[in-house]
Amino acid sequence: MKEKFYIKTFGCQMNEYDTSRIVNSLNHNGYEQTNDILETNIFIFNTCNIREKAADKVYSEIGRLNHSLLKKKKYKKPIIAVVGCVGQAEGEEIFKRAPYVRIVTGPQSYHNLPKMISNAKKSNDFFINTDFDVKNKFYSKNYKLNRDKVSTYITIQEGCDKFCKFCVVPYTRGPEFSRNCEEIYSESFKLTENGTREIILLGQNVNAFLGKGLDNKSWSLSQLINYLSKIKKLKRIRYTTSHPNDMADDLINVHKDQEKLMPYLHLPIQSGSDKILRSMNRKHSVAEYKNIISKIRKLKPDICISSDFIVGYPGETERDFQQSLDLVNEIQFGKAYSFKYSPRYGTPAAEQKQISEEIKTYRLKTLQNLLTKQQKSYNRNMLGKYVEVLFENTVRNGYLFGRTPQMQSVCVQGSKNLIGTIKKVLINEAGLNTLFGTLSKNENICNIH
Ligand code: SAH
Ligand code: SF4
Ligand code: F3S
Repeated sequence: MKEKFYIKTFGCQMNEYDTSRIVNSLNHNGYEQTNDILETNIFIFNTCNIREKAADKVYSEIGRLNHSLLKKKKYKKPIIAVVGCVGQAEGEEIFKRAPYVRIVTGPQSYHNLPKMISNAKKSNDFFINTDFDVKNKFYSKNYKLNRDKVSTYITIQEGCDKFCKFCVVPYTRGPEFSRNCEEIYSESFKLTENGTREIILLGQNVNAFLGKGLDNKSWSLSQLINYLSKIKKLKRIRYTTSHPNDMADDLINVHKDQEKLMPYLHLPIQSGSDKILRSMNRKHSVAEYKNIISKIRKLKPDICISSDFIVGYPGETERDFQQSLDLVNEIQFGKAYSFKYSPRYGTPAAEQKQISEEIKTYRLKTLQNLLTKQQKSYNRNMLGKYVEVLFENTVRNGYLFGRTPQMQSVCVQGSKNLIGTIKKVLINEAGLNTLFGTLSKNENICNIH
């Protein structure tokens, strides 16, 4: 019988992609995944360090696991591994804070896990590897693809050179690195042979992508998108997350020219105040951001714009915050995420004078109320319209889950054999997070995309 391992993922989509690679490499080293903690002695936590709460969650989760393992009748010392961004940021500190952790690796060195686990089985030592070994992470010879989701993530770009003053990512993921286009094409092609119909290209700054192309020159994200669109079975392409400074004209234009590229853009701005953007080191102004949005909306009027905001950044006055609200009112987002500023150890903003928790709570609530209202009205706009939905899976018996081109979740009654196909749906109910509708009998009607 194969030895089992348990893995839990925290954080962003890039961590989810990394987890799929970890699972793959362990599978090919003779291990099998389980969701039952009583079936195994190997526990892997793929962690996130973006905000304090995210990091704390990891420690409390590991503490709880250790506690329930100790209560097991036949106690065998577990092998607990912390991988990902907490591993990178905290390194050896983790062994002090949680002494039952045996292995620590960063997000660019987890391809060493099979070896580290086998070493940990042979001794009582602690093992750590936090190298920025990003090339080997992707070229790892252990990697064999066996994912079969209708919508699948592929990391194409890693790391960040931007150093926004609040952010840990440049320290946890290291410098920017782009994979080469042929390798991404071949991974995408294999996925489509396994049933994938939509690919979401991932990177911390995915639009800064510059990967080796077929002509040995560096290709931009728009060139890669056009190249991938040649894969026949691939029906939809998306990319996330973008930085405003890398929103080049060729990328904006490809939204108009490339049918397979979906009308959705996640473009974080963080604040509507130029003063705050400057002190965050975002290197762009509010006006430049608005200019990108108006250019892309002119070319692709039905595009859904989404963003990220931080409230309570050091130095944010009521007036700065009001400017964020004004910007939200002006842009009208289809969706947006907002967070209280969380000071992260080692980042410059953590050294500045902090805003009180009460003010942060009040600002977050105010902004989220506004964003929720916009999201609801954006969704309500779909009522009575026919939209093209790619079905991804079943939610419960007889009901299908899918997404519109604008990334909204849709639930309809329908048969399982529609999974992986795109069908027209008449929307007749619109909630905050989900649209409900009925499958259209007439394949030719479509007035949204
Ligand atoms: N590379 C992306 C964002 C990656 S992090 C970009 O530049 O847009 C995802 C989001 O987490 C950020 O957009 C930001 O809104 C939020 N975030 C990052 N660090 C944070 C911190 N210290 N406190 C609160 N939110 C933070
Ligand atoms: Fe973090 Fe800024 Fe880089 Fe985004 S661009 S990952 S927010 S440092
Ligand atoms: Fe978190 Fe690391 Fe992603 S800090 S958001 S898991 S890049």
